[in-house]
Amino acid sequence: MNINSLFQPFKLKTLNMKNRIVMAPMTRSFSPDGVPTLDVADYYRKRAAGDVGLILSEGTVIDRPSSSNDANIPHFYGEHALAGWQKVIDGVHGAHGQMGPQIWHMGIMADHHSGWIPPAPFEGPSGFVNPGEKKGQAMTERDITEAILAYGRAAADAKRLGFDCVEIHGAHGYLIDQFFWNELNQRTDQYGGATLPERSRFGIEVIKEVRRQVGNDFAVIIRLSQFKPQDYNYKLAKTPIEMEAWLNPLVNAGVDILHCSQRRFWEPEFEGSDLNFAGWAKKLTGAATITVGSVGLTGEFMAAFRGEASQPASLDELLRRLDRGDFDLVGVGRPLLADPEWAKKVIEGKTEELKGFSKEALATLV
Ligand SMILES: Cc1cc2nc3c(=O)[nH]c(=O)nc-3n(C[C@H](O)[C@H](O)[C@H](O)COP(=O)(O)O)c2cc1C
Repeated sequence: MNINSLFQPFKLKTLNMKNRIVMAPMTRSFSPDGVPTLDVADYYRKRAAGDVGLILSEGTVIDRPSSSNDANIPHFYGEHALAGWQKVIDGVHGAHGQMGPQIWHMGIMADHHSGWIPPAPFEGPSGFVNPGEKKGQAMTERDITEAILAYGRAAADAKRLGFDCVEIHGAHGYLIDQFFWNELNQRTDQYGGATLPERSRFGIEVIKEVRRQVGNDFAVIIRLSQFKPQDYNYKLAKTPIEMEAWLNPLVNAGVDILHCSQRRFWEPEFEGSDLNFAGWAKKLTGAATITVGSVGLTGEFMAAFRGEASQPASLDELLRRLDRGDFDLVGVGRPLLADPEWAKKVIEGKTEELKGFSKEALATLV
């Protein structure tokens, strides 16, 4: 297998990456009162120095009173938090890396184990936290408009601070995905509907506002997942035809890159083809895609949260798909959380130095 294909440069608008490796967004909860600290800046700078092509930040929440369920998750609004992010991006650029924040609104959430609760009730499409389970508030049209504007302000701030792109978090059962998901979106207005394209209206309006704020030349990514943390086998799009009808309007609204989240990148998306989610997304839209999910590891991330350890695994199957042109970029999560030098070690062929992942790594920023 040709490892060099992972080390080809990639250019798209403001992105000018030295290789195809993307650090996947990973929540670390080390930003007290929503402000990223110097330790957080140092954590990202080390990944840039370790030859990661593009760093996506941990999810960082937009300016809505209940966009977060955790006081230690960074904000992407307010003077202090943005000053913290300025240090992050300056450090990454100083180490010749590129970076974008993952802008996030959690939607309706379970309460955090710390006991912290946001200053306003959680908000989502219809007041469901899980299928059939009510919690929080259904958003009014005014709430929706204000949330869309808040995503746009975060994107504008990302550009103003000098970030190289922005990623909209549309995956994993959070706000935008709650609108996509019929079980949680039972609205009867223009933001609901029987079909996935109808329920995509909120996501599309977020993308359009983000694009309006950053202009045509700034790279915009959206992260999507078919699976939900509540249901790993769930598929928003059950066929390629449904996937095409979902994704093309998102691309037409202004996203450049589809970040296709799976727990295991090698799992086929539909019967009859070995293409994964990122493979289908690229084939159906022509847009650039990022694959992710257990690259270089034996076990997947949701099991890791429950304490399952993973060992290093071969990159051969990943490279086979990358060489075939299934996707453009490769998201790497836990290996880069545990080891800032992971990309450099892969580039230098030091595979015997690669580490596995265990839950203890979550306790510190290394
Ligand atoms: C500690 C941790 C925090 C995560 N936080 C986020 C997040 O904030 N936003 C997001 O989109 N995905 C998040 N994820 C998912 C990762 O971005 C990635 O998709 C997942 O870990 C699979 O990649 P991996 O197998 O290489 O770890 C998180 C994963 C981990 C392990």
